[in-house]
Amino acid sequence: MSEVVLAYSGGLDTSVCIPLLRERYGFDKVITVLVDVGQPRSDIERGNTRALKLADRHYHIDARREFVEDYLFPLIKANGSYEGYVLGTAIARPLIAMKAAEVAEKEGVANLAHGCTGRGNDQLRFEAIFRATSCRVIAPMRDLDLSREWEIDYAREHGIDVPVTRERPWSIDENLWSRSIEGGRLEDPYFEPPEEIYAWTRTPDASRPAQVVEIGFEKGVPVSLDSCRMEGMELIERLNEIAGEHGVGRTDMVEDRVLGLKARENYEHPAATVLLTAHQDLEHLVLSRAELRFKAMIDQTWSELAYMGLVEDPLYADVNAFVDQSQKRVNGSVKMKLYAGCAIPVGRKSPDALYSQDMVSFDSQTLSQRDAEGFAKYHGFQARLLKRKCT
Ligand code: ARG
Repeated sequence: MSEVVLAYSGGLDTSVCIPLLRERYGFDKVITVLVDVGQPRSDIERGNTRALKLADRHYHIDARREFVEDYLFPLIKANGSYEGYVLGTAIARPLIAMKAAEVAEKEGVANLAHGCTGRGNDQLRFEAIFRATSCRVIAPMRDLDLSREWEIDYAREHGIDVPVTRERPWSIDENLWSRSIEGGRLEDPYFEPPEEIYAWTRTPDASRPAQVVEIGFEKGVPVSLDSCRMEGMELIERLNEIAGEHGVGRTDMVEDRVLGLKARENYEHPAATVLLTAHQDLEHLVLSRAELRFKAMIDQTWSELAYMGLVEDPLYADVNAFVDQSQKRVNGSVKMKLYAGCAIPVGRKSPDALYSQDMVSFDSQTLSQRDAEGFAKYHGFQARLLKRKCT
């Protein structure tokens, strides 16, 4: 009896994979694994129902807490961003892959499948995890070189009712952190996205009054919203709603995929924008200049590893260790103003601030301004030497 475990989302690609794994690969049994990383509840329900109908056995794994604490918190601490992309899809893939691999191991199944194409990053992220097992890896979309149009027709023939049509062919990936939209006319980077692609954000509206929210951080991790302590998941969910109302967190960009292809990408991520902006602002209050400079390089390395799905590379643990050490003093809160698509820091405070109002103030006498004169004499000295203009 040949069996395969499929990482299943409930969308077009992975739904089409189920009959393909039977018809084209000859598997007798397809076991689907749907991992909950905070997608909309309706997607989870639809995915579960569809899997129960199409697959031989189905697992639904709630990994939301793990996703927040083991992936999103490190991301926030490292200001995770790849070319301006907040890394939503990227950061969830290793966890989804690990959960599917765990099911394969538990069920004693020697085959692992994913529904990623051969053009994107996700195949690499899944397989970086899958290939660490002894399982054979199967990628039907890539092997069979299928087009989305072919898939839509094939799905219909097999009674799979996916909400994708030739007119609205968007490929959407969602989790708690972000929603990404690809495909169809969006593949033309000059084509302006229609409002209908957005689901988490309202059209930015300057006539809507601004709103200020205060985010509290402890050790670099968000712990409260407007002084109300809450778990990361609830905080992110609430912020997605609040900031989404103000149209905060839309990205339309051209991104360099790992394979080297440039791709036009559209994202929505209201909470991510607010939290990353606030976190970075707080770091500027508490970290030293040298720490900020050095950490920017570490953050970039962290982000590239996360983008590539290389969370098992030993370097990932190394950079996380640095980041964690750097976050011990990232405590305090930041007031964020949400207005017309923008999230702007408008106030910050911290018990660990490296800031002295007394020293910097125009009105203070604590430090004598005259003391700076000696410093100023040396500053830029070499440039003046070159021009032989030393005073
Ligand atoms: N370009 C992004 C990434 O590589 C998003 C991919 C999203 N996938 C999708 N089916 N919409 O992480």
